[in-house]
Amino acid sequence: MTDAKPKDSSEQEFKLEPDTELRFEVENPDNKSEKVVLELKSGNAEIFGTELVKDKPYFFWSGAKVAVFTWHGCTLELKGKTDVAYVAKETPMVMYLNVHAALEEERKKSEAEGKRGPIAMIVGPTDVGKSTLCKILLNYAVRATRRPIFVDLDVGQGQISVPGTIGALLVERPSGVDEGFSQLAPLVYHYGNNNPGANTALYNTVVTSLGEVTMDRMRSNKKANHSGAIINTCGWVKGDGYHQILHIAQAFEADVILVLDQERLYNELVRDMPDSVRTLFLPKSGGVVERTSKSRIDSRDARVREYFYGTKTNLYPHSFDVKFSDVRIYKIGAPSLPDSCMPLGMKAEDNMTKLVQVTPGMSVLNHLLAVSFATGVEEDVIRTNVAGFVCVTEVDMDRQTMTVLSPQPRPLPQTLLLLSEIQFMDSH
Ligand SMILES: Nc1ncnc2c1ncn2[C@@H]1O[C@H](COP(=O)(O)OP(=O)(O)OP(=O)(O)O)[C@@H](O)[C@H]1O
Ligand SMILES: [Mg+2]
Repeated sequence: MTDAKPKDSSEQEFKLEPDTELRFEVENPDNKSEKVVLELKSGNAEIFGTELVKDKPYFFWSGAKVAVFTWHGCTLELKGKTDVAYVAKETPMVMYLNVHAALEEERKKSEAEGKRGPIAMIVGPTDVGKSTLCKILLNYAVRATRRPIFVDLDVGQGQISVPGTIGALLVERPSGVDEGFSQLAPLVYHYGNNNPGANTALYNTVVTSLGEVTMDRMRSNKKANHSGAIINTCGWVKGDGYHQILHIAQAFEADVILVLDQERLYNELVRDMPDSVRTLFLPKSGGVVERTSKSRIDSRDARVREYFYGTKTNLYPHSFDVKFSDVRIYKIGAPSLPDSCMPLGMKAEDNMTKLVQVTPGMSVLNHLLAVSFATGVEEDVIRTNVAGFVCVTEVDMDRQTMTVLSPQPRPLPQTLLLLSEIQFMDSH
């Protein structure tokens, strides 16, 4: 007698010892979408800090790179086509858990002393697992009943809003296993480019603004204040990129800097940071996979699609016409002039944070436009957060209108729009 189900050739079972992880990648054939189903059959397991529910199917799509870690051992089942699937015994998870424990101590201390909780910032070169470590630490914090703030300053591969932005979010529950943290009211600032080096003056300005508002919000929410914040950064760590890291640490009053993988960066920070800031070196996980520039472009595109359509294509964006005469579009940063040509007392840097009016036309087609909360240029538009984004899907010069894709129905909540360099082709 047998009660075993006939096994599909692509069905695999893994028995994991304590402190090991199953790593797998979903096949990514061109133009084809593959799906892998994961189930926890016995024991306990977590994906980047989120616990799995026994016998519940979890779906992963083409290109997903996943690690299922177990503290006490488990059995896992995988169905579908994977590129690789193996159990790794060497993982840095114990070290990451120790970091969480140290942050927890700081949180307790902050409660006892009525002070602000720890602000931890994660830095390192590209592809070392910075975003993943943020997720793990945030998930562990909420599982410990904290309400930490997640700050994402990566304008290329960020997790809050669309590429070309920075933002902050109060985390109230663990992230979904196959999606990000739920976003009720993220605080978002427009930068407009996926490269933090494209306009350093603007990047530092929006970081300062986000830092001030985040600190204010923490002060007004006791629970968040004691829970502290986890800050994700981008992988640009040399030259101006390094100076941006120093600027971020200052703007967010970082208490702890976690440096992943790069000892040189670690040593530079130890040298340059005041003694009050603790700098810690952490190894990267052997599971982190390097991404090609194509996969970075793909994931940026997926991020914008997700913004309008939702993770499981469960949102229905709205599409409507906007008259050119009803809006004002600006971009930030004028072409730079040599200092000698600048009006007296102005630096070339000031030019990079200047608003320049854009005449609506074909040049905005396929671009994202940020809908600013500012109502007029007399306000400090650059230092004002944005309500959201629309994407220009059509431009009609005869009728002097543009068609936009929007997560909200018409009308636009505000009429001051900021042009982003980020483009999106709506293929729905
Ligand atoms: N232990 C692991 N096993 C397998 N895959 C992993 C592991 N840790 C992270 N990954 C995967 O590796 C990829 C890169 O990780 P992550 O995005 O955290 O790196 P990053 O340093 O933030 O990269 P970037 O510089 O692009 O922001 C992600 O797809 C992530 O899911
Ligand atoms: Mg990242």
